[in-house]
Amino acid sequence: MARESQLIRSVKGTRDLLPSETHLWQRVEDEARAVLAAYNFHEIRTPILEQTALFARSVGEETDIVTKEMYTFSDRDHESLTLRPEATASVVRAYIEHSLYNEGGIQKLYYVGPMFRRERPQKGRYRQFYQIGAEVLGSDHPTIDAEVIELLMLYLARLQLENTALLLNSVGCPLCRPEYLRVLRQALEGVKTNLCGDCQRRSETNPLRVLDCKVEADQPIIARLPSILDHLGPECRQHFDRVTAELDERGIQYTITPRLVRGLDYYTKTTFEITSGALGAQNALLGGGRYDGLAQMIGGPPTPGIGFSIGEDRLVLAVGEAVAGRADWAAAPVAAYIVWMGDRALAPARELARELRRQGLSVEIGYEPAKLKKSMGIASRIGARFAVIIGEGELESGRYQVKDMSSGEQQAVEPVGLVEYLRTHLTAPNCVAAAAIKSSDQG
Ligand code: HAM
Repeated sequence: MARESQLIRSVKGTRDLLPSETHLWQRVEDEARAVLAAYNFHEIRTPILEQTALFARSVGEETDIVTKEMYTFSDRDHESLTLRPEATASVVRAYIEHSLYNEGGIQKLYYVGPMFRRERPQKGRYRQFYQIGAEVLGSDHPTIDAEVIELLMLYLARLQLENTALLLNSVGCPLCRPEYLRVLRQALEGVKTNLCGDCQRRSETNPLRVLDCKVEADQPIIARLPSILDHLGPECRQHFDRVTAELDERGIQYTITPRLVRGLDYYTKTTFEITSGALGAQNALLGGGRYDGLAQMIGGPPTPGIGFSIGEDRLVLAVGEAVAGRADWAAAPVAAYIVWMGDRALAPARELARELRRQGLSVEIGYEPAKLKKSMGIASRIGARFAVIIGEGELESGRYQVKDMSSGEQQAVEPVGLVEYLRTHLTAPNCVAAAAIKSSDQG
């Protein structure tokens, strides 16, 4: 317990995102919403708190997430609750709970929000982290798999992210996986004593999980284990071949990675990840795959599905590096700082600020009278593109002085023409904070 005088700090593995960073987060989210809308996805917001059983049943009792990483607590009425470690299970729960399958056709849903996993914090890995994710429910057609991947590639291209790699695999289905597991168990029998403690246990309980073990010393042994792709049943094989053919037709490059079984148990058939060369050890930018049995695992009707989740923290890290120094990605500057001198100037200055803001321009105004020099200092400190000066002389002439803060040029402009003047002279389009608010909205 912290002493009363001790500074209370944020919880280990959680972060405050400050305004110097949040503009990039907003931009990344805006671009995601635009691309998702283009593919006809709609937003769903599910609770952060869920019943623990939801994740235990879907993500899997034997996964690292469920055994080691969940924030689970007993509520006052002894119900076991968990801060969501991922959102796919929640989306499928909501889909079933609200009978969205009755709406006909497929459902294309997306979400943006925080997830919680008690992992060892490091760069790109946090205990509260954010995901941008999407799920398509109601079709097992391989075209959907390819389309979801196409969407992701378009999104990453819009974010100017290069140096990424798409890894692709199939983990089969309940029909073909038992045979693979038998072969895998057999192969593990001879080598498991040389593997880490976790893998020795997994060899018995959930041998597939051995394949995504990260322990360095285990890697050469794991590399020699049988490949799941050699044991796919005819339906899974056909599905996988169709997905790869569709990716080829779309000109999307990928690397087939038979070890990519992913850390969650609900996957069937297609799984994929995109890694980024801009990230360090935590290089998985996003992960996803098909989960045709998940709805049934949590008590719903059979519903095929596929989706992905992008690690937004990692995405922002990578994008930040890719766009560093680019003016079109810089934080939106304040369009104008309004300088007023003398009591008589206050009312027109306030009115001007209100009108410019109504027009969607980002504007700041001093709340106390100040000398010109001091006001210019403020305008420059807050990064205003223009200073609009209103003093006795300007009130007399009926024209305000508008100073371009970067060139130092100054011009007298009539108040009625100011919005137009600022708009045409603002090089950074993002000075316009929002769509113009109609005067009728202002009452
Ligand atoms: P996941 O692979 O567990 O999949 O997570 C997806 C992404 O979230 C990772 O690739 C990574 O970028 C990010 N991530 C995971 N853990 C952390 C962490 N501790 N700190 C920062 N970022 C992290 C899922 O969550 C599935 N729901 C994906 C999915 C959706 N499959 C089908 N639909």
